[in-house]
Amino acid sequence: MMTKYWSSDPAQAGLKEAAAALADGGIVAFPTETVYGLGGDAGNTEAVTRIFAAKGRPSDNPLIVHLAEAADVGRLATQVTEIERRLMEAFWPGPLTLVLPVREGVVSPLVTAGLDTVAVRVPAHETARRLIAESGCPLAAPSANRSGRPSPTQASHVREDLDGRIDGILDGGPTGVGLESTVVRVIDDRIHILRPGGVTCEMLQQAVGGRASVQGEESRQTEASLEQAPRSPGVKYAHYAPKGELLLVTGEQEAMIAAVQSKVDEARALGSRVGVLACTEHAGRYEADAVLDCGPRSSPEVAAQALYAHLRECDARELDFIVAEGYEERGIGTALMNRLRKAAGGRVLNV
Ligand code: TXA
Ligand code: MG
Repeated sequence: MMTKYWSSDPAQAGLKEAAAALADGGIVAFPTETVYGLGGDAGNTEAVTRIFAAKGRPSDNPLIVHLAEAADVGRLATQVTEIERRLMEAFWPGPLTLVLPVREGVVSPLVTAGLDTVAVRVPAHETARRLIAESGCPLAAPSANRSGRPSPTQASHVREDLDGRIDGILDGGPTGVGLESTVVRVIDDRIHILRPGGVTCEMLQQAVGGRASVQGEESRQTEASLEQAPRSPGVKYAHYAPKGELLLVTGEQEAMIAAVQSKVDEARALGSRVGVLACTEHAGRYEADAVLDCGPRSSPEVAAQALYAHLRECDARELDFIVAEGYEERGIGTALMNRLRKAAGGRVLNV
């Protein structure tokens, strides 16, 4: 298959052609404020089948449906509670996905993986919203990467993974947040975070005031609360992994720096090519085959924005082993650490 490549420049016809391809059952990658998505008409089972096939995604992992306007939510969901309404008003358009009871017969059963809920969001990216509106259909869109690879934050990443497997790529430049949306489900007066993201725990709590409590992501909960917690099917899959093995190191700064360098030295002594993901302040202190600068320690949002490109860079540099500095788990730092832990596949050293 020939993958078309369009600029999202409004002076050109790219967006219209991409929208026409979508309306016609095609699958097209497009920019959002989080990461690039691979879109298809959510009501078209053939298009959705092609999304799963192009990504190599397991069919029991449901997709997020993207709308151009919050006012369209009733097309997909049978019910929106007071708390959910508040969250939509506060964060849509934006990087928040809500899991809602699905209206029967409007989205392909493949989108929901047979669940009675549907995940919905309205992206805060002009190109994305214009594309959805112009195509005339809600777009089912997972991140536009091959399953297991880091999510794409630039059109070139999509090309690396999916060239020849999809109908087109609409290039809107690099994405903003750099990590996927926050996925929440509201049950009674509790907002359960199924996946941390651009909308932080603190922001959710502030938006609902005292009217609801926010429950952290399930991997951070106790066994007891986990039993009652709703699940996001996606969280059980290994994710975001570079080809080399990644070790995440956390702890007080000087101890952390010493531990990172000692892990680097150990691996290099065994003949590995080793990289470090470090903040600007520490980058100059490491000796390794590659040191990737993640921005100032006080700006975890810069590290979040760059994370997936850095993980791809580690692959391009053929690093066998990567040691990453940890961040404080607050604000966007929570989502950043969630993705780092996943990339590390559980290899975390706390010093
Ligand atoms: O920022 C984003 O959310 C990006 C952009 C493209 O919008 N999309 C994205 O999609 O990250 P994807 O498919 O890579 O992740 C969707 C997540 C998965 O963890 C999936 O399990 C969860 O949402 N999900 C989807 N439908 C669900 C449902 N009905 N109930 C619970 N979790 C659901
Ligand atoms: Mg994904």
